[in-house]
Amino acid sequence: MIVFIREIYNKKRFKYYNEQYIVIILCEGIIKKRPNNSLLINIFNRTYDAGAAWKLRKVILRCFFLHPRRLFNILANKISKLLKSTHVIGMPSTMMIEPTSFCNLQCGMCGKNQYIELGVDLQEGHMRFENFTGLINEVYKYVFTVFLWNYGEPFLNKDVFKMVQYLRDRDIITAISTNGNLLDQQAAVRLVNSGLSYLVISLDGTDEESYNKIRKGGSYEKVIKGIENIITYRDQKKSLTPYVDLQFVVMRDNEEKVEEMFDLGRKLKVDRVTLKKCQISLESLREQFLPVNREFRYNCYDGMDNEIQSTCYRLFEHSSINWDGHVFPCCDIKDPECSMGNCFETKSFKAIWNGTLYQQFRKNYLENKKYYICKKCPGKAQSANLDL
Ligand SMILES: C[S@@+](CC[C@H](N)C(=O)[O-])C[C@H]1O[C@@H](n2cnc3c(N)ncnc32)[C@H](O)[C@@H]1O
Ligand code: SF4
Repeated sequence: MIVFIREIYNKKRFKYYNEQYIVIILCEGIIKKRPNNSLLINIFNRTYDAGAAWKLRKVILRCFFLHPRRLFNILANKISKLLKSTHVIGMPSTMMIEPTSFCNLQCGMCGKNQYIELGVDLQEGHMRFENFTGLINEVYKYVFTVFLWNYGEPFLNKDVFKMVQYLRDRDIITAISTNGNLLDQQAAVRLVNSGLSYLVISLDGTDEESYNKIRKGGSYEKVIKGIENIITYRDQKKSLTPYVDLQFVVMRDNEEKVEEMFDLGRKLKVDRVTLKKCQISLESLREQFLPVNREFRYNCYDGMDNEIQSTCYRLFEHSSINWDGHVFPCCDIKDPECSMGNCFETKSFKAIWNGTLYQQFRKNYLENKKYYICKKCPGKAQSANLDL
């Protein structure tokens, strides 16, 4: 399906584009208008604003036209989901791969810290480049997007640029989320040259004071400089990528800063500002972190129903790989007891993807047996991003 979209951004909030014609090939056709009149497009479970789809058009076209098997794989995954089959046809279409679980900051709301509070023993380490390439060699014909992070700060792994390049050379759309503290000029040059498609920079404050309340151990100034480094070099090089998305998790300590965040985004000339809802599994931390304004919260934190739905695409279309090779059905699951196997030890991701444990997990999920983690997941009931 080819969809032509004429996009008109609200000039007050987003001045970055006025009008654009977008060609999206084989998008799932879900187009949603934000209250500010800009458009959101769902392409295979990922929501992009129209500006991102336009800037990434070359990457998207190469990704599918040079690797048509990826399209058949998406179709196969969707058929498996529709049939509620525990054995999934094909390989995952998207993957989250964690280059490292080490971090240079200690943000109180981070899922990693919540696991530590729960007493789960999360081992730390960097993913080895040869393990990474072994995995990619097995899956690249099928996977069309890799999210190169989970817990930890990706830029602490010295091989992260090589990883991005390895994915780019295989025409995989690649995204990284970073706290932005390590993006000095040299890193910015390497990153733009590596061919990264999408860069999420987490900035939960609009000045040193509001930033420090949340991003403990970080430096607001360094992040701002990092953003400037990336955008300056990218524009100098006349490159469309990486698309830079400034992400703001709305919490109690920063909810008053939402409008300022949009102003800051305009000032820094980022491509997009995204507001994200805060996910707090531990009840004891909710009071401290959840914003007061209910508009910014997941409904489930206000007593609304959060039953498991049998439609979560992750179990059929996505897989999450820990730095050490442990495979999880979802990026929010880190409990070692929920590992589906270790693909670095077995040297076969495929055997794990349709192995006994993965199939049992899908079966339990489909039968609505409430794994604690799926029950607590607010994402299945609502999107994580606030479509403002
Ligand atoms: C866990 S971090 C890892 C990558 C990197 N260290 C960073 O901070 O961007 C990935 C994303 O999750 C967001 N995040 C952290 N804690 C969160 C929470 N409790 N709810 C929602 N998002 C959260 C971060 O802001 C970041 O954008
Ligand atoms: S920088 Fe990212 S990974 Fe590190 S503690 Fe903060 S949110 Fe978590």
